[in-house]
Amino acid sequence: MNSIVWQPTPVTKEDRRRLNGHSSCAIWLTGLSGAGKSTIACELELTLHRRGLRTYLLDGDNLRHGINADLGFSEADRSENIRRVSEIAKLFVDAGMIVIAGLISPTREDREKARGRFGEREFYEVYVECPIEVCKQRDPKGLYKKALAGEIRNFTGIDAVYEPPENPDIVLHTDRMAVSDCVAEIIRHLEAQGVIPQATGIGQAATTVRERR
Ligand code: ADX
Repeated sequence: MNSIVWQPTPVTKEDRRRLNGHSSCAIWLTGLSGAGKSTIACELELTLHRRGLRTYLLDGDNLRHGINADLGFSEADRSENIRRVSEIAKLFVDAGMIVIAGLISPTREDREKARGRFGEREFYEVYVECPIEVCKQRDPKGLYKKALAGEIRNFTGIDAVYEPPENPDIVLHTDRMAVSDCVAEIIRHLEAQGVIPQATGIGQAATTVRERR
């Protein structure tokens, strides 16, 4: 590593942000399987996109089909998963985009390491909180049932650890909050932090997105 020198590039993160007309950051959604990370991430991206902001969504499940297809659910593999996704998210932030990452990311250490890769106002940890009993009832992929039957090992919340964030930027209680309220809460935070402009006067660049679906 010592023989590799950082190569400066002429176009900077600030240049890209200026071109985009807004700042960039990573919104890191952590929580149990079934807590609602993907649902909130999708709705958040759609809302930001419809405001004309440049976004990208990194979904844990989806990335495990490609770049992370070689990783399982051991502690070491999850750490590597989070390392890779946070490095990818960092590239997107450098590209001037608002990146939304939804991963269980069960340990504080891995999440803090992820945060450490970003600068100030570039990383927001969102705890998507939901009691495990509710997640089990929702069981959208039938995985809790399998884990409880012993068909899946190392399942988060059953026989693998989930460490709730101690100091998250935002907490969303998805057992008693509507998805739209969760999204509104994140957007309020981003506006207050000056990452995105206030809603007033912002273009509707992608009003057709919903119609297309
Ligand atoms: S993380 O722990 O490494 O952050 P990640 O978010 O990428 O996990 O993937 C979690 C998804 O993988 C879950 O939503 C679920 O669909 C699936 N999955 C399969 N096996 C497990 C397991 N043992 N523990 C947790 N999730 C699992």
